[in-house]
Amino acid sequence: MKIKNICCIGAGYVGGPTMAVIALKCPHINVTVVDANTKRIESWNGPLEKIPIYEPGLADVISEARGRNLFFSNDLKSAIEKSEMIFMAVNTPTKTEGEGEGMAADLRYIEACAKDIAKYSKSDKIVVEKSTVPIRTAEKIKEILEENSSNIHFEIISNPEFLAEGTAIQDLFKSDRVLIGGDETESGQKAVQALVDIYANWIPKEKILTTNVWSSELAKLASNSMLAQRISSVNSLSALCEKTGADIDELSKAIGMDHRIGPKFLKASVGFGGSCFQKDILNLVYLCKYYGLDEVAEYWHQVVKINDYQKDRFAQKIIDHFGGDLSGKTIAILGWAFKANTNDSRESASIMISETLLQCGAKLIVFDPQVSLKQILSDLKNYKSSFDSNIYDLNKKDLQSFDKKEFDCVAITTEWDEFKKLNFGELPLFDGRRIIAGNKITYKIGS
Ligand code: UDX
Ligand code: UDX
Repeated sequence: MKIKNICCIGAGYVGGPTMAVIALKCPHINVTVVDANTKRIESWNGPLEKIPIYEPGLADVISEARGRNLFFSNDLKSAIEKSEMIFMAVNTPTKTEGEGEGMAADLRYIEACAKDIAKYSKSDKIVVEKSTVPIRTAEKIKEILEENSSNIHFEIISNPEFLAEGTAIQDLFKSDRVLIGGDETESGQKAVQALVDIYANWIPKEKILTTNVWSSELAKLASNSMLAQRISSVNSLSALCEKTGADIDELSKAIGMDHRIGPKFLKASVGFGGSCFQKDILNLVYLCKYYGLDEVAEYWHQVVKINDYQKDRFAQKIIDHFGGDLSGKTIAILGWAFKANTNDSRESASIMISETLLQCGAKLIVFDPQVSLKQILSDLKNYKSSFDSNIYDLNKKDLQSFDKKEFDCVAITTEWDEFKKLNFGELPLFDGRRIIAGNKITYKIGS
């Protein structure tokens, strides 16, 4: 089956860049990205410097493909109608209420998407799960599609994303693997092949892995959980390093030189953030509990617990340095994004650290090269009414004359390159990312 038109529902961090690259690499396919948020679509169609997502290389891809075979639109109905293949890339946050609250994935947007697809489809469709979903979601999607339509065949396949923010475009250009899961039926295999043919336009065939639907769905949760588990392992060891005089960087290097382990994702930090790791692990924990695998659930839950412990440990180090009371102290927080090269602050360690410091009476001056003050305040919304006036934005000019500022200490929470050049003079420095050498460092994670 040759695909000529693709529709993607959800123009977020995943849907936007993924569709832009498919359009770039497959000029023979029309790709339309739709989103319930009309403002988001407007900005995808607006000036390149203002597209809604900051991702190195993305603007160039958009500039080449937009208007040629890449379209951003609010017209869900016609995008569904004309497409043979529809990607679901809506968000699947952790549930905030009901059964599985705080753990399970909230599938309401996926369900809404499935209803829309059923409502507007007039011919057979291949529906691709791009959003991260719990195992066996494809079954649920199929049920909704079939209940809400008649005489249309829907084939559901799974194609999880493995994009890391900040390198999403490179990850799409040169994927370690592309995973496609489908039913073992003839129509299932045809649908898988249709998507294989699309990726084969730029991904070497040996890197396109086809599996059954359930393996593909679970592989995404398992991959993210294993990556996060490495970070929690190293972060837990950083606490032991501090007690014993071992150096966590030296330890990570020594461990990572074993080719069976490898050096990546062994960097001690203030704790992992981002929209995926915690959400996906909690989702895995919930699934294990659901299937009665309590020991397995507890094993994975510990990865999130150590992450919370690490964030709290970092904040406590600062509080302890000042004898437990931060009233009248001004702390510079350098970095709000959950990692460098992104404007995304979802689940960033900076949020919990800042909340703890604010609770202890500190004034914060926050700087991030990409995250706006508006976003910072919205992330701290629980503290907004009482602490609003204690949070300032440090603009780039101020950052350059940094050493002249009257801070009581500096906390580095994101490894932006911008911060590497700064000289902090005699200021106490709490470096959560171990990036600065040569300054007086009172505390580093793991030292
Ligand atoms: C999301 C999930 O977080 C991730 O688990 C999954 O793998 C892919 O989708 P992301 O792209 O980062 O990742 O989410 P987000 O940036 O919030 O984008 C989702 C978009 O879907 C938003 O723009 C939202 O407006 C849109 N949406 C949501 C719809 O168009 N319709 C809906 O019913 C719900
Ligand atoms: C992750 C996965 O890498 C990606 O495959 C998946 O599709 C989505 O989730 P992302 O969340 O964008 O991507 O970023 P990632 O680079 O994995 O970093 C996640 C967090 O871990 C960041 O807060 C980062 O600073 C932290 N981290 C990473 C460490 O603390 N130490 C490390 O060694 C590596």
